Amino acid sequence: MDPIVDLDFIDNRTPEQAAACDTKVTAETNTGKGRKLYIESYGCQMNFSDSEIVSSIMFEQGFDTTADIAQADLVFLNTCSIREKAEQTVRNRLGQINYYKKKKPAMMVGVLGCMAERLKKSLLEEEKIVDLVVGPDAYRDLPNLISEVDGGQKAVNVLLSREETYADINPIRLNSNGVSAYISIMRGCDNMCSFCVVPFTRGRERSRDANSIVREAQALSDQGYKEVTLLGQNVDSYKWASEDGTESVNFAQLLEKVALVDTNMRVRFSTSHPKDITDEVLYTIKKHDNICKYIHLPAQSGNSRVLEIMNRTYDRAWYLNRVDAIRRILGNECGISSDMIAGFCTETEEEHQDTLTLMDYVQYDYSYMFFYSERPGTLAARKLEDDIPLEVKKRRLAEIIEKQRETSLNRNKLDVGRVHKVLVEGFSKKSDEQLSGRNDQNKVVIFDKKHYKKGDYVNVFVHDCSVGTLFGKAID
Ligand code: SAH
Ligand code: SF4
Ligand code: F3S
Repeated sequence: MDPIVDLDFIDNRTPEQAAACDTKVTAETNTGKGRKLYIESYGCQMNFSDSEIVSSIMFEQGFDTTADIAQADLVFLNTCSIREKAEQTVRNRLGQINYYKKKKPAMMVGVLGCMAERLKKSLLEEEKIVDLVVGPDAYRDLPNLISEVDGGQKAVNVLLSREETYADINPIRLNSNGVSAYISIMRGCDNMCSFCVVPFTRGRERSRDANSIVREAQALSDQGYKEVTLLGQNVDSYKWASEDGTESVNFAQLLEKVALVDTNMRVRFSTSHPKDITDEVLYTIKKHDNICKYIHLPAQSGNSRVLEIMNRTYDRAWYLNRVDAIRRILGNECGISSDMIAGFCTETEEEHQDTLTLMDYVQYDYSYMFFYSERPGTLAARKLEDDIPLEVKKRRLAEIIEKQRETSLNRNKLDVGRVHKVLVEGFSKKSDEQLSGRNDQNKVVIFDKKHYKKGDYVNVFVHDCSVGTLFGKAID
């Protein structure tokens, strides 16, 4: 099979990085008293973070989590609608889950997240094994919905909210290696990029109470975590004010507050929007050693006309100005990554070339690269024609991937011969004699274990690299 057709989520991540985004939950809570919940997450980090909130709500209802689907009384799929392939993956998975449900007819199956929101009630008709459908803002209603299902009904709640941030819920850290954890700082998106389904599935943008974010960071530090990642679709538009108006916090200020919680705990964040990232944010990153010098700054395209019809609200010159600001303030060492869409509606060959030259200019450390997939209901689906043939989209995507491989290797070569501070996340995939961790720029570094362990900061001299990994030696 053409590998490009098969890979919806193409990137140059190492297996270690990819594993961090695996769909499976491995952590178990086991009181031995409860029914068992098995939860699988698809899509972006927001969904993985939401699954932790869902598990916490269900734990309060007496559900333990299990990593073994065969043991489950309740199966949740936390789903993604971003591309057609993402939805197809979930549909296929529901087919497999049917096998378990046949063996254990009492097993409840719920679809959560973005597909639940997009398809609503129709999911129940299309997928007979589904008992409940719950959108991303309705998780507090899960206990009621479960009791409806217990009573023999099907249950749906896909109401979106303008306020819900789950600020007071203490997530059960399912996706964590005990070293790094996600903190969700905002929900929804107001940007309306023409290709994107997220504003429809996740609703209006809202920022979470800054004090609750700082408290969560403090709790993680107290539990020994060494890294937090602040999550939002557009973190740079974070804006929170206290009800009495005495406190007002923007993203730069929030970053600083979180960085000051524990100077030995790294702070990462994702995603930055090129239209909103300010010099104030960049200077805040510079000021604090524990804020990682790495920015995920999705360009989507290198051509101004395409960016305009994508409704990204910046052009090529603006984007490059932001990249120049990063280089000026944070230097060449700061890691930059991107998302790119190949073959958006009406994109010409020349316009596609502009994406490649933009990549040459920026020298991304890595990128997540996709071909355009029309999503029903979006601005592009309503107003533009999806007129680029699939083979052309795939060829352009292959060229973008090839370019990224080149620049990743260039960038990694610059890291060879230098010492990097690495936070150890665990053993390397290939050997228990080697450890794997990440440097400030989010690159995976592999080195011999010696006496080091998970959660340690280790100075590693890098002597070699591949497209996705740095290899080195710990310096005592
Ligand atoms: N909020 C982030 C992106 C979230 S979606 C941002 O604005 O950058 C993650 C990525 O999926 C997007 O950056 C985009 O590259 C890709 N994507 C979104 N909709 C898509 C579509 N319809 N077809 C192909 N890729 C898409
Ligand atoms: Fe989608 Fe654009 Fe919002 Fe990102 S900023 S989630 S791409 S609408
Ligand atoms: Fe997918 Fe929803 Fe995230 S559509 S990418 S899971 S916000």
